[in-house]
Amino acid sequence: MKKIIDILKFYQDIGVEYTKKINLQDKEDIWKNLENEVVNCKKCSLFKERTNPVFGAGNKDARLMFVGEAPGRDEDKQGVPFVGRAGRLLNELLKDVGIDRKEIYIANCLKCRPPNNRDPLSSELKMCFGYLKRQIALIKPKVIVTLGRYSTYELTDEKAAMGQLIGRVFEFGNIKVVPIYHPAYLLRNPKAIDIFTRHLKKVKRLVEE
Ligand code: URA
Repeated sequence: MKKIIDILKFYQDIGVEYTKKINLQDKEDIWKNLENEVVNCKKCSLFKERTNPVFGAGNKDARLMFVGEAPGRDEDKQGVPFVGRAGRLLNELLKDVGIDRKEIYIANCLKCRPPNNRDPLSSELKMCFGYLKRQIALIKPKVIVTLGRYSTYELTDEKAAMGQLIGRVFEFGNIKVVPIYHPAYLLRNPKAIDIFTRHLKKVKRLVEE
């Protein structure tokens, strides 16, 4: 029963009307409108200092989606998620387990870079969450990997330390959510790379089963 309520709540959150429109409109138009909303967004003050919004990138029909925290300096310059040092490490680790970055979709909780890479504010996360939920609703991935605590807390509603959450399987609507470490954490703690890889392999199996 709880599962049904969760699923209904998920569709309510993304708006039933919106779901109806998906059937009537061309999906590409909906993507374009959503991206335009993000480009023109002034809901919080981050738009004032960013160079480019970072909407998200990858396969819009992906079965596997990754959600990070917020754009950093390189992402802000290029308007593309995970293209800096952390992104390069992520690419390598994906490749090691046989996941092609072209097959997945990557987005962030925040679409604009916080000044000097400061932590996202809860008000910013709240205001930006609607965009991410709509991206998820359009992609309908089978599995979402949350990279680090911000996306994990946002999509699981858990607030425990990452060490207690990584590798566990949560649900967001009827989508499986698996938290793992953020690649920036791995740059500072290379010993955690093995754990990351182990969980990434498990995620790959979950997508394929
Ligand atoms: N860190 C993130 O969380 N997202 C990016 O796009 C880049 C670095």
